[in-house]
Amino acid sequence: MGHAAPLRRDPLRFLCGLRQRGPVTKIYIGPRPVHVVNSPDQVRELLTVQARSFDKGAMFDALRVPLGDGLITAVGERHLCHRRLVQPAFHHERIARYARTMAERSLARSADWAPGTTRDLVPDIHRLTLDVLLRTLFADPHEPGLDAAVKDWLTVKYHSMRLALSPLHAWAERVPLLPGWRPPDAGPLRRLVDVQLRIIANYRADGRDRGDLLSMLLLAGGPEGALTDAEVTDELITMFLAGTGTVSASLAWALHEISRRPDVQRRIHDELDTVLAGRPPAFEDLPALVHTRQVLTEVLRLHPPSWLLMRRAVRPVTLGGVRLDPGDEVFFSPYALHRDPHLYEDPEVFDPDRWPADAAAKAPRHTFLPFGAGSRLCIGEDYAWTELTLAVAAFTAGRRLEPAGTAPVRALVGTVLRPDRLPLTARPRPS
Ligand code: HEM
Repeated sequence: MGHAAPLRRDPLRFLCGLRQRGPVTKIYIGPRPVHVVNSPDQVRELLTVQARSFDKGAMFDALRVPLGDGLITAVGERHLCHRRLVQPAFHHERIARYARTMAERSLARSADWAPGTTRDLVPDIHRLTLDVLLRTLFADPHEPGLDAAVKDWLTVKYHSMRLALSPLHAWAERVPLLPGWRPPDAGPLRRLVDVQLRIIANYRADGRDRGDLLSMLLLAGGPEGALTDAEVTDELITMFLAGTGTVSASLAWALHEISRRPDVQRRIHDELDTVLAGRPPAFEDLPALVHTRQVLTEVLRLHPPSWLLMRRAVRPVTLGGVRLDPGDEVFFSPYALHRDPHLYEDPEVFDPDRWPADAAAKAPRHTFLPFGAGSRLCIGEDYAWTELTLAVAAFTAGRRLEPAGTAPVRALVGTVLRPDRLPLTARPRPS
């Protein structure tokens, strides 16, 4: 069992506790050794200086079969080439176009939340992030069966990701500890791929740029050629995989923190009143929403959805004085780093003002890692900041959020770190 039991029982506390054992420490999950990196300097080595000596590791291998081989799982030349081809879909001017959808859908989703009523916002937020992703991926789907295929696939996604990314589940095949273990069903992926191939065929037929992500993936090309239809479907599925749970967890944590802090909420209201003066939020407003950005930065520090990341050595390499052989697995935890008292004063305190207003956008890499770093840095980072800021503005501008009930909101530590529920009451804003 090694450290599997404490890692399963309370993974966050276990990972934070490891920092006392030095910059790189070895733990065992079942019979397998895993090296845990606890210092920002060694994380920098891992993600940038020595990045070529590592791939993503066993857990991502496990995702490739049920979820396809898009950017998140791709390695080596395939990763470099696809990264170059996918990048234009996330350029600034493109995100400005997606922002219209983000703002419009966030306002629509929050509009029917009447003052005086209480809701668990978690399901609303899930629906919102999926809706935004679908509409920014496919501005023009007109394809019957897309919604059903996505819903069907999401259930397999959750199962596969839990299996692959949760530290203990990843070893389920080798360490048969889990009685409920079963392999993911390949049917939903196949059906989603079929629907997407039909959409791609329609797009290719007229070659129009519809302003969405799919158009960019189809238009992308370079010396290395263009993405094939099969590669495009892998990338689309990767976006579902990477761009829904992470954003909904962050938005839920943000509304949770804001609702519990009248002073923070008041400053957000003041900022929105000044910048928006009653009109809907838009992409052009983002630079002026300074306090909202500081709040979101602090939310991502305290509650990074990707709480545990991993790599695997592909050649002999030394990290923090520890020699790693090919195949050796490495973990590092943005959560543990973000709560390290050597890196942040009073790390458990929620304090948006720890981020200077003009530097919030450039928080230091390697001590602030919600989006990773180096060549595998989240390609959707700007997309996520945009969606989160516009959604926070939409949900807070016209109402005051208040926590409902006395039961504490708990962190669920799964493939992402998310709140189990978010019961909030909307109150009218004093005029
Ligand atoms: C708050 C929201 C998000 C968070 C916290 C987040 C976090 C991350 C992290 C930590 C990584 C690096 C993983 C590693 O190094 O192993 C990553 C990679 C990635 N993310 Fe995000 N992400 C978010 C939103 C998004 C969105 C909205 C999209 C797309 C629409 C997206 C697409 C991707 C992709 C494709 C990769 C793989 C990039 C590569 O390896 O080249 N993410 N994300």
